[in-house]
Amino acid sequence: RTAPAVIVAIDGPSGTGKSSTSKAVAAQLGLSYLDTGAQYRAITWWMVNNGIDITDPSAIAGAADKPEIVSGTDPSGPTIAVDGTDVAGPIRTEEVTSKVSAVSAVPEVRTRITELQRSIAAGAGAGIVVEGRDIGTTVLPDADLKIFLTASPEARAARRSGELKGADVAATRDSLIKRDAADSGRKTSPLAKAGDAVEVDTTDLTLQQVIECVVTLVEEKRAAK
Ligand code: DC
Repeated sequence: RTAPAVIVAIDGPSGTGKSSTSKAVAAQLGLSYLDTGAQYRAITWWMVNNGIDITDPSAIAGAADKPEIVSGTDPSGPTIAVDGTDVAGPIRTEEVTSKVSAVSAVPEVRTRITELQRSIAAGAGAGIVVEGRDIGTTVLPDADLKIFLTASPEARAARRSGELKGADVAATRDSLIKRDAADSGRKTSPLAKAGDAVEVDTTDLTLQQVIECVVTLVEEKRAAK
């Protein structure tokens, strides 16, 4: 018989290895993969490009339904498009990164993106790994497995500045801490560990070790289903 669909939620702050881990676990186990941060970045990119005043939550709320956001969920080549345009590159700019917390704090934005996420997860035949901030707590509270990744601020800043090819570690650390504080402090579905999530501190682990740990946990859940 075919393996039953399994839903895995991976949450945590930035720089904990969420994306690398989630993609690798999905690829290894033949599951789909959804980067929910990319969706919030995509809607932010659209707001910036359409002259929406990012400091005005009601302007953001009023435009939340306008852009069409499409996520490709193949872990070996995930894609993200807004109104038919590939935005995988532009959503990683410093401008979008600095504005995404404000946009993603608006309830109308979260409702819209959460619905999208639930419909993608429901349609993932073999199962899916969904990574974000509120997946285990809000988007998919019935997920088969919830993981909460953490790491020291120093380790997270070092990883992020490595990704940004030599960006200043101290500046990266500051912007990361600021974004985490905003994401954890917002009213609507803040970054938080679900009560039934397994916490994995990745500070002293290699990416390979984290992947193996999560793969083992998913296989145990699948076997028990
Ligand atoms: O994972 P990332 O750094 O690409 O996410 C970008 C931002 O999107 C993050 O600072 C907060 C927001 N986000 C969110 O509010 N909820 C999610 N499930 C995922 C991301």
